[in-house]
Amino acid sequence: MANKSFERPQRLQFNDNNYATETLAVRAGQHRSQEGEHSDAIYPTSSFVYTSAHEAAGTFGGDIEGNVYSRFTNPTVQAFERRIAAMEGGERAVATSSGMAAILSLCLSLMKQGDHVVCSRSVFGSTVSLFEKYISRTGIETTFVDPKDIEAWRTAVRSNTRMLFLETPSNPLAEVTDIRAVSEVAKAVGAKLVVDNCFLTPALQKPLSLGADIIMHSATKYLDGQGRVIGGVVVGSDADMEEVFGFVRTAGTCLSPFNAWVFQKGLETLPLRMRAHSEAALELAQWLEVQPQVERVYYSGLKSHAQHDLAASQQTGFGGVLSFEVKSHEADLKAAAWRVIDATEMISITGNLGDVKTTITHPATTTHGRMSAASRAQAGIRDSLIRVSVGLESIDDLKADLQLGLNAT
Ligand SMILES: Cc1ncc(COP(=O)(O)O)c(C=O)c1O
Repeated sequence: MANKSFERPQRLQFNDNNYATETLAVRAGQHRSQEGEHSDAIYPTSSFVYTSAHEAAGTFGGDIEGNVYSRFTNPTVQAFERRIAAMEGGERAVATSSGMAAILSLCLSLMKQGDHVVCSRSVFGSTVSLFEKYISRTGIETTFVDPKDIEAWRTAVRSNTRMLFLETPSNPLAEVTDIRAVSEVAKAVGAKLVVDNCFLTPALQKPLSLGADIIMHSATKYLDGQGRVIGGVVVGSDADMEEVFGFVRTAGTCLSPFNAWVFQKGLETLPLRMRAHSEAALELAQWLEVQPQVERVYYSGLKSHAQHDLAASQQTGFGGVLSFEVKSHEADLKAAAWRVIDATEMISITGNLGDVKTTITHPATTTHGRMSAASRAQAGIRDSLIRVSVGLESIDDLKADLQLGLNAT
């Protein structure tokens, strides 16, 4: 009997512009094969075959549409790229092997020797190291600024500035940067504004609609959402992404099909998860704020946060990450913070975030441990600080577990 599935018409025409983020998260960009699978297929293949030498030559030469090699293109990776591009409201996305590979690929494809970057000083530690230790070797210089100080951005840009880079809200102190204002500074000198949208994701913040030119993600965090795989992605205009794609396919900073599939599945629940993470984080932040053992809570959803109004004006939620300082009369603040962490029983002690499991970490000795004590002090990361990435467990269980920690101060 003939296998009818090979003749079945596939209904996958999908105009991304007409749908909400929640709909795009589950429907945009899917590649459906002639098998008619409802869920996305994985294409774990390094290369692709042709019916003739002529077809192979045409595909390699670009005259015939098709895949050549998975360092260049792969249907699963492209499906993930189409979906995240639609969700961020960008023309095109390019997926990478990690969030750091995304930043490296952006820098080496869009800049050259003699160019200049202005970067927020409140970005992920490895991002600082990448600019300071490695990108600097290519003759691209970076100036770091206080992200809240728009005048500092204005003063730092030069005629050779090609990129402004920021992360908002920042990690771990939830500092919020005015994306619209920094984008004006970038436009004035013809530079690109790149926003690391890892902490809020397109479910809660769309920087391209606020004037940013390019988005990057550590997909490792909320896009996966369950702490399984490493990956990254950049989103922007066709012209910029063509440059990034050229670098990625040549340098090999590409994403594996399996990891792309995990992210594709992760995106389907992203809006729902981000809402739940945000609700739980706000409740926990409000609860922590009134605990006698807590000195201060950092969360942009709190009315007490100095930039709460700015956050509310550019975000549709406040995300799942908060941090707080432990109150202690002893000189060794680190010991007090460690006691709180060690006395929790359920929450995972790990540096990762964006997981359905709640995680707790001591930034000064883990995620920000490689910074000098002076740089840490300048960035406001004190030894009493603890960061929590709020997961999807019951809020009562989370409070009870943190209470065990606070009782140990
Ligand atoms: C905000 C932010 N950007 C970038 C990265 C780097 O991403 P990856 O670990 O996927 O390389 C991280 C990782 O923790 C991060 O938190």
